[in-house]
Amino acid sequence: ESSTEIDISQISAGQAIKAVFRKQPVFIRNLTPEEITAANKVDVASLRDPQTLAERTKPGKTNWLITMGVCTHLGCVPLGAGEGEVKGEFGGYFCPCHGSSYDTAARIRKGPAPKNLEVPPYEFTSDTVVKIG
Ligand code: FES
Repeated sequence: ESSTEIDISQISAGQAIKAVFRKQPVFIRNLTPEEITAANKVDVASLRDPQTLAERTKPGKTNWLITMGVCTHLGCVPLGAGEGEVKGEFGGYFCPCHGSSYDTAARIRKGPAPKNLEVPPYEFTSDTVVKIG
């Protein structure tokens, strides 16, 4: 069982990168203040898989959204981490396989996927390094 250490110092606000964890893609995203506001404005009770941004991030680091890059429908890799403006209509990620849209907390908002993008176990080992797994 191996963990992955990732240097996040070069990921500026508004950017997301892809890494690999357990042979699967993982997305590390530095949310902008606007993206955080958008996530917090959503009525959680209206969500298919109700979770707040705070529940999906670490205390004091809600700008760091770390999720698996695996669509919860049939496992395609959503777009939005490294594809520029391809984020779908809810501003997070978009799965082109069957059209699932995820919001800026990577919560499912539209399309066939049943669940939010999974948050893997992780911890910050410093301000600039995150250890996944
Ligand atoms: Fe993503 Fe079907 S695998 S929408």
